[in-house]
Amino acid sequence: MEKEIEELRGAAMAAIGSARHREDLGPLRIQWLGRQGRLSQLFKKLSESPVQQRATLGKALNDLKAAIQSRLEEQEQKLALTPRPAPVGFDVTLPGRRSPLGRRHPLSQTMERIKTVFGTLGFEMAYGPEIETAHYNFDALNIPVDHPSRDAFDTFFLSDGRLLRSQTSTVQVRVMEKRIPPLRIVAPGRVYRPDRVDATHHFMFHQVEGLVVDRRVTFADMKYVLEVALQALFGRERKMRLVPSFFPFTEPSAEVFMSCPFCEGGCAVCSRSGWLEIAGCGMVDPNVFRAVGYPEGEYTGFAFGFGLDRIAMLAYGIHDIRLFTENDCGFLHQF
Ligand code: DAH
Repeated sequence: MEKEIEELRGAAMAAIGSARHREDLGPLRIQWLGRQGRLSQLFKKLSESPVQQRATLGKALNDLKAAIQSRLEEQEQKLALTPRPAPVGFDVTLPGRRSPLGRRHPLSQTMERIKTVFGTLGFEMAYGPEIETAHYNFDALNIPVDHPSRDAFDTFFLSDGRLLRSQTSTVQVRVMEKRIPPLRIVAPGRVYRPDRVDATHHFMFHQVEGLVVDRRVTFADMKYVLEVALQALFGRERKMRLVPSFFPFTEPSAEVFMSCPFCEGGCAVCSRSGWLEIAGCGMVDPNVFRAVGYPEGEYTGFAFGFGLDRIAMLAYGIHDIRLFTENDCGFLHQF
């Protein structure tokens, strides 16, 4: 039996020493030290050997076990430090392959900037559903029953009478119905209109709605907020002007124009006028306050709304709104 022990020692050491990869050591460990392994078999034989020799043989076996264990560990450490030889035909000097990095969509980037700008002015974000009722999209916004925007040509209606919101002004109503002033919110989101798709129109686009309501909010407050926001987005040199307009939910109403960032005095983008229309705004119509149940004459406020796609197109010089939804990586990678 002593001879067997020595043979086993020789064989085990040789096998472990010739292992070339760490992964080879697992099977060797099982082969030599496992329950069904070679060493266990010898341990079992111990009971058959003469009683006087058992103690010595037992010790020899235990020593062998310890020796195999430490040899395995030693080899494991050695192999951990040895690099695997490169397979033939493999050029280790080639530069590595870069994993392609994604970017944030230009609309998301624009949205982040708008959030930051209005966040600094004390506005909070508000959201509303894209599937709406006529109450939120029209009635509460003082849009008369015979208004053309209620036409199926201008709004997508669902078969159950609900609709896809055609403006984010819906969120004004939702917020005011739930909360009392002071309110300062911006509400970004998707809106839908059955428009023929071309370079500047889409059936789905994005708007950002703003609403400020408190006691004694004035038209001058609105002008200030809009100008600060516009200059934060497009640069301090941009000028703003308000042109009288009409929206059912504001009185008085205005269109917001910004001096064209692409030219001095006239180019194709601004139709040679030097000005670009970028938003609608106005003082909240008392009928809207009535619709949400605010006490008569208590509050004033202003609202504004602009197209996020249009802002992003102007900010990045993008000429076709369709590019935003085409997921063309060549396009998206430029931002
Ligand atoms: N909802 C308007 C639209 O879709 C934009 C708008 C104009 C929003 C004036 C407003 C506003 O809040 O005061 O054309």
